[in-house]
Order: sequence, then structure tokens, then C-alpha cells
Amino acid sequence: MQLPVPRGEVVRILVLGGSWFVGRTLVESAVARGHDVTVYNRGRSPAALPDGVRHVKGDRESAADLKSLLQEGPWDAAVDVSGSVPAVVGRSAELLAPATGHYTFVSTISAYRDWPHAPVDEDSPLWDGYPDLDPVTRQWDPDAYGPLKVGCEMACERAFGKERLLILRPHVVLGPREYVGRLQWWLTRIHRGGDILVPAPDRGIQPVDVRDLSLFLLERVENLDNGVYNVAPKMGEATFGDMLNACADAVGVTNWPIIFVWVDEDWLTSRGVTEWTELPLWRNAAAPWSMRTDRAHAAGLRCRPLTRTVADTWAWLRRGGRPVEHERFSEHGINPAREQMLLKRWLTEHPQS
Ligand SMILES: NC(=O)c1ccc[n+]([C@@H]2O[C@H](COP(=O)([O-])OP(=O)(O)OC[C@H]3O[C@@H](n4cnc5c(N)ncnc54)[C@H](OP(=O)(O)O)[C@@H]3O)[C@@H](O)[C@H]2O)c1
Repeated sequence: MQLPVPRGEVVRILVLGGSWFVGRTLVESAVARGHDVTVYNRGRSPAALPDGVRHVKGDRESAADLKSLLQEGPWDAAVDVSGSVPAVVGRSAELLAPATGHYTFVSTISAYRDWPHAPVDEDSPLWDGYPDLDPVTRQWDPDAYGPLKVGCEMACERAFGKERLLILRPHVVLGPREYVGRLQWWLTRIHRGGDILVPAPDRGIQPVDVRDLSLFLLERVENLDNGVYNVAPKMGEATFGDMLNACADAVGVTNWPIIFVWVDEDWLTSRGVTEWTELPLWRNAAAPWSMRTDRAHAAGLRCRPLTRTVADTWAWLRRGGRPVEHERFSEHGINPAREQMLLKRWLTEHPQS
């Protein structure tokens, strides 16, 4: 394959994952761009893959399954969307390296040690990572997530070298099929109406739309680009308040009373409200939404307005869209009785609110 891939040329792409959210959207975009796509996963997700996609069923933790996968290659490029255990990622990367020209690893903003306490760019310090680490549990652990992803990045680099490796570190990803349920919680909460506990209207926010992330990834793959990119909209383009107002517009709240009660962040913290989960996407830290993304924007990242992401996610839910069932979904959203109790206290202490 030449560098870069001539426009219109079919790229044979292997997607490790590909059926839940980011991977699934990527697969759709790749098919729409005419590429030849192979998807490798355990086949547990009920949704059918798009027509024309080759599905190879297997567990990436199984050496025998991975060996069978190799018989389906070679590929111009592989995209690892599902990797979170360094030793597992390392084993598949080593095996695929002779049969794959280019490798993309989807990492995360959590790889940065200073996030969410200071702004981060691609050169900011990372957590210590261990490319051979294989923790005893596969249970989701928010504190382990960042260091594990750094270990995965290192394992990929060992197998592919810097020249053939692209690493994307997205900020929070939203859009149709989002299974963590952050934006969905706000949409359904606002749809329920009434007095709604809301924090930090003026805080900047920069979640990336899953479709913009997928397109950026594919364009980089088509260029056989290497290196590291943060992926998010530019800072300062939208606020938490813009997002919640967009939710209200999307669900059409003119039909019933809805009042946003903007509550002081430190007050919420002092009452023990859990950041990031009880009030999804809210974090009372110095720089949760200060990801510098100049490199990606210079390379061609285009981000749709957050209002579009919100409206399309609601439209998808209204059409009966359901994300894949995921253990993290139930973590999100404040209990209704607790929300009303906190509102009552806040309004008693701050009658002018
Ligand atoms: N969501 C966010 O806000 C956010 C932010 C930053 C970065 N990220 C990163 O983005 C990626 C999210 O991707 P996604 O979950 O949406 O990707 P996805 O590729 O759509 O879904 C995960 C895939 O992995 C497969 N899978 C899981 N365990 C497997 C195993 N042992 N062997 C083979 N296949 C396996 C699943 O299918 P089966 O169950 O059928 O095997 C599924 O197809 C992650 O790497 C995450 O770290 C996410």
C-alpha cells in the first residue's frame, strides 16, 4: 500500500471490537467510505452489523481464537477500539504486526496524570504504564482505567513501533448508541420535567460526537498517519448550560413546567454529590474540560455543534434506539428522591435562587 492511500482506494480494515458504540459507528463510516471491513468480537451484541462487513467471531483473550483470526488477513490497517488490558492488547498487537500495515489504538483523556486538575495537551505527563500488566479482574475501575490504557499504548508501540502506530485520546464521547448513558440521563431527566438540580451553567464542556471521532480516525487511517492526537471540540465552544438548554429544546419542554435550579458546585460537593456519575458530565475540578486539541484540528478534525449531538441522540432514542446493555449504565444519574431533598435544602438556604 502506498503512502497515503490514493483517494477512493479500498482499505482492508480490521476492527477489534466494532459492535457497541465507537467501534460500531466507525464500522458504519468505513463501509460508507467503501472500505473492506472485518470485525472481530465475541458476537454477544444483538444488533446486526452493516451489510458487507466480514464478521470473525472470537475472544481477544484466547490465543486459539486470535490464531484463527490471522487466517482472515492480511489487512492494511487494524483499529483497536476494545483494548483495555495491556497484556491482552500486547498479545493481539504482536500477533497482528506481521499481517497488518498500520495500527490505531483508541485510548482516552484518562491517560493523562493531570486530568481533570490541569489542562492537557499531547505532551502532558501520562500515568505510569506497564505493557505486560494483566490485572486479576476485568471489572471496571475508574482509578485503574487511565494507567491501564497507558500500558496498552506502550504494548502497541512495542509491537508496531512509532512509525506504524496512531494513538487517539478522545475526551468524553457522546452521540447515538452511547451506552454509558451520560447524555441519555440528562435527556430523560429533562423529559420528565419539574424542578431539576443542575450545576455549573458557565463551565466549558467539550464532549466529542462519536461520528466526528470516527470520521477523523478513518481519515487518519487512510493517510496512514502516525503519532498521538487528542480528540475533542475546541475549548470554549459550548457550556454545560448550552448542553442542558439543547436537551430542553430537543425534548420539547414547552408542554410542561421545567425549571433548572442552578446549584453552586462547592455546595453540591459539600453535600456529597458524586461527580461524573450522580450528575453526569459534571466534575468540580479545575480543568475537566481543558483538553488542547490544536493538533487534531490542524490535521482536519471537524466537530459538529453539541446541539446537533444532543438533538440526534434524542431523535435516536425516540426512534426506539437502545444502547448495548452495559454495567456502567446504572452508575449514572441521581436518585429522584435525593435530588428533590437536595433541591429543598438548597432553596431553603438560598431563597433567591
Ligand atoms: N465512551 C467514552 O466517553 C470514551 C471516551 C474516551 C475513550 N473511549 C474509548 O473508546 C472505546 C469505546 O469503544 P466502544 O466500547 O464504544 O467500542 P465498540 O468496538 O463499539 O465496542 C466494544 C467491542 O468490543 C467487543 N469485545 C469486548 N470484549 C471482547 C473480547 N474479550 N474479545 C473480543 N471482543 C470483545 C464487543 O463485542 P462482544 O461483546 O460481542 O465481544 C464490542 O464489539 C474504548 O476503547 C474506550 O476506552 C471512550
